[in-house]
Amino acid sequence: MTKDYRETDKAHVWHPLFQHQRLEETSLAVFESAHGTTLVDSDGREYLDAYSALWNVNVGYGRQEIADAVYAQIQQLPYYPHLQINVPATVLAEQLAACLPGDLNHVYFCNSGSEANETAIKMARQYGRQTYPGENRYKIISRYRGYHGFTYGALSATGQARRRKAFEPLVPGFLHAHPPYCHRCPIGLNYPSCGTECADEIERMIHWEGPETVIAVIAEPIIGGGGVIIPPDEYLPRLRQICDDYGLLLILDEVITGFGRTGKMFACEHWDVQPDLITLAKGLTSGYIPLGACVASGEVFNAFLGASDDDKEFAQVCTYGGHPVACAAGIANLKILQEERLWENAEKVGAYLLSKLETLSDLPIVGDVRGKGLMLAVELIEADGGHLATAKTNQIVARLREEGIIVGKIGHAIEEPENIIFIAPPLILNEAEADRIFETLRQVLVQQEF
Ligand SMILES: Cc1ncc(COP(=O)(O)O)c(C=O)c1O
Repeated sequence: MTKDYRETDKAHVWHPLFQHQRLEETSLAVFESAHGTTLVDSDGREYLDAYSALWNVNVGYGRQEIADAVYAQIQQLPYYPHLQINVPATVLAEQLAACLPGDLNHVYFCNSGSEANETAIKMARQYGRQTYPGENRYKIISRYRGYHGFTYGALSATGQARRRKAFEPLVPGFLHAHPPYCHRCPIGLNYPSCGTECADEIERMIHWEGPETVIAVIAEPIIGGGGVIIPPDEYLPRLRQICDDYGLLLILDEVITGFGRTGKMFACEHWDVQPDLITLAKGLTSGYIPLGACVASGEVFNAFLGASDDDKEFAQVCTYGGHPVACAAGIANLKILQEERLWENAEKVGAYLLSKLETLSDLPIVGDVRGKGLMLAVELIEADGGHLATAKTNQIVARLREEGIIVGKIGHAIEEPENIIFIAPPLILNEAEADRIFETLRQVLVQQEF
């Protein structure tokens, strides 16, 4: 049975980020069911999913409430475009506005993180034209190692050459600054004597480009796929200040960090920073149904108001944006997150797991351990302190899978060897499961002989 599906899949399916020639010597897993933090493959083997699928199954698998909400909504109203009102989208928008910080009150729904960022980029540019008539503000600053999605605009904001180079030239008007990556500072400085030079650099870029040409800074509060890069505490407030000083919008991409992942409902709360636009996906439905959103402040939203013939409305429609079934899943998902206060569990069990993982630093192969909530990374090194070879990191990830633990790994994000393991389990993780992740990882790292 399994073999049949693998053969059929090999013949007909094109998988993302995957060299299909490898199917000569390896095969992909067939996951058939899941419950809690556990995935089950077609041979009946169970795995602890320490990566929440792709950083997104925040409430864990097998939530009957979400399934029931989706089923009921399909029966009642499966679909109607968001050119009119549907109740689940309205209710979810109200609930999001209530739990987002400050006056992020205006929700534009779409289907994915890429679309949410695409929307934010387009809103920023249109906002710029409408707010600063006579100026041509369109440039957007992001950071190297940041990831914002696969569509052309979001990819243009992305600072990962290996995701971009096959598709260049990309959209004009995107500039990249150094990431706030203190462990291996790309500017060669040390925190705190650096004075967060990586943020000052953004101010200098605005100055050199001409502030009247720049409209926004887009950033993940904690860079995810680019390496779980947690900025120093001054960094995000400083970005907010720079944006205020030059009249720019701050777009925070909370596609990974939103919905409890880092120990707060939204990561920007750690630094008390309110963006003008926030982008959401992944944990918005915990992956049960695709849904994304770009949420704007009142100030941004108001810039789009005007008479019906002056073309100030946001000029974008998305057939499945505000899909009632996806929004019904979003409501049920948010209810679980809030009733179980899962961000608190992420903070508590995340701190516990981080303290355990930090003890791995005694192993010569471990270069750095970092994390916030249940968004953690272990960076691996060769004996000379350089990046562990990609093949060796792959081998460690494969050994963990053999031992029943699924983790993530940095991929197509950096030019150096891919040496970072990601641990981002569902937010329902308990301490016994955290122990299992830690102990299995220690055992695999200790046994590694290259
Ligand atoms: C921070 C961030 N933004 C945007 C995206 C794009 O989301 P999607 O894959 O849903 O388009 C991702 C995906 O991993 C992400 O990690």
